[in-house]
Amino acid sequence: MPLTPQPIRRARVSSLATYVPPRLLTNADLEKLVDTSNEWILQRTGIEQRHIVEKGVGTSDLAKEAALVAIARAGLTPADIDLIIVGTTTPDTLFPSTACRLQAKIGAVNAWGFDLGAACSGFLYGLTTAANMVAAGASQRALVVGGDVMSSIIDYTDRTTCVIFGDGAGAVVVEASDDDRIGVIDFENYVDGHGGSALQMPAGGSLMPTTAETVAQRLHYVKQDGQTVFKFAIRNTEEACRRVLERNNLTANDIDLFVSHQANRRIIMGAAEKLGLPPEKVIINIERFGNTTAGTIPIALDEAVNTGRLKNGDLVMLASVGAGFTVGAVLIRWGTKA
Ligand code: UT7
Repeated sequence: MPLTPQPIRRARVSSLATYVPPRLLTNADLEKLVDTSNEWILQRTGIEQRHIVEKGVGTSDLAKEAALVAIARAGLTPADIDLIIVGTTTPDTLFPSTACRLQAKIGAVNAWGFDLGAACSGFLYGLTTAANMVAAGASQRALVVGGDVMSSIIDYTDRTTCVIFGDGAGAVVVEASDDDRIGVIDFENYVDGHGGSALQMPAGGSLMPTTAETVAQRLHYVKQDGQTVFKFAIRNTEEACRRVLERNNLTANDIDLFVSHQANRRIIMGAAEKLGLPPEKVIINIERFGNTTAGTIPIALDEAVNTGRLKNGDLVMLASVGAGFTVGAVLIRWGTKA
């Protein structure tokens, strides 16, 4: 079908919803699994607990719960969605994509879609892709999901990683804005592919297919050089946000709320401080969810909306750094339908 050119429009997030599985994994639980302590985890990461799926629950299951609510909140039905983008590092299967599975689960019969691999930046990369599709007139109502079942690729004998991650998902509907001032204003996404070895799952792909040996060597789990990722994350969260601010002739004073990827409390507060953002403008909810990878930003946004910290008309800066390395910053004049 030929694409009918449409005038460029501003895209907005018209609704938002999230889902985390009910089961909790607390720091006390982890003390029983590995040589760690509640004090160490709290002090180094800010995390107190994470939500973890039961066996047999995949990313598409979390995505479905969030997506159905987001679509209803936008006053739509699944058949109104024409594009599904799922940012995830833990697809249900390598193929078919989680987007295809989700399309079937929610009955989005008129949507095409795909998975997007950008690790912790998966939601922001999905959002910027959808926003530009909507702005160009190539999509009318896109569904963007950021979600992960990190517990499926975490080694619960490795104390350096198992204390950090949790499971969860968030979904937004992206539509054309009827008010030119409301919606996605600008974004700055970039990658530094030299960072690949600092955070990765070595086996299970085409480079190192699964064998009895790779399983025995525990190569199907997240491996991280925490210090390298930590330093890169603070520096580049600041850098990406600063580029967006400067390009739009704004300063930190103009930002009402900073919603960063929740990887470590110290990274978020460190980047905010460098940007000149006071703590009251920063959302932190890592203590209750841990790092849900592509899920953290929609989960934090949802909390900001529900607690009244993010209101329609506010200027919000989203930011993330993830494996790759992937970096993203998105500036939005917030304005949902409901
Ligand atoms: O979202 C994806 C992006 N990921 C991130 O942004 C994560 C970035 N990195 C981090 O958040 C931090 O580097 C960590 C939380 C992973 C680690 O914190 P750190 O302050 O960088 O600790 P470290 O790696 O320098 O380790 C300090 C000490 C070490 O012991 P020694 O060598 O000083 O004796 C570690 O073995 O802490 C030890 N350690 C632990 N001790 C108790 C590492 N993990 C643990 C643990 N419990 N869970």
